[in-house]
Amino acid sequence: MVRVLFVCLGNICRSPMAEAIFQRLVDDAGLTDEVQVDSAGTSAYHVGEQAHPGTRRVLARHGIQYNGRARQLAGGDAVGDPAYLIAMDSENVADLQRRFGEDARIHRLLDFAGHTPVHDVPDPYYSDNFDYVYRLVEDGCQGLLQAIRADTGL
Ligand code: 4NP
Repeated sequence: MVRVLFVCLGNICRSPMAEAIFQRLVDDAGLTDEVQVDSAGTSAYHVGEQAHPGTRRVLARHGIQYNGRARQLAGGDAVGDPAYLIAMDSENVADLQRRFGEDARIHRLLDFAGHTPVHDVPDPYYSDNFDYVYRLVEDGCQGLLQAIRADTGL
């Protein structure tokens, strides 16, 4: 089983969106039993809350339902192998490294994207730019799945 954990600050906007999009890609590829997908926040600000309405709305427009609740990153999230710890931005990478050390399993999502000029997923919590964020995250998720398949032979 390959474990993939998407990480952002609040676990209500970007990382749940990535989790839901990536789960759809995994299911469409017939890899549901091979890849386990989850998300978490570096902060405890929104623990237990539903995803942001903007995230749920843009996912629903793409036919994806998401029912997860926010949780904070836990020590066990870096235990076990193989795993991919996929941060939404450089600040999340720095937080993950502070917590788990310089771990080769920590990546930024958009480093897997094909055609994007930005490498940090901007936070839509303040900008409300959920459509733009969706396009970036989808691009990154497609590249990530290809990379995982190449790494693992799935
Ligand atoms: P996320 O967005 O990290 O993509 O879930 C945010 C959610 C909440 C806050 C900041 C960003 N906040 O400051 O409460």
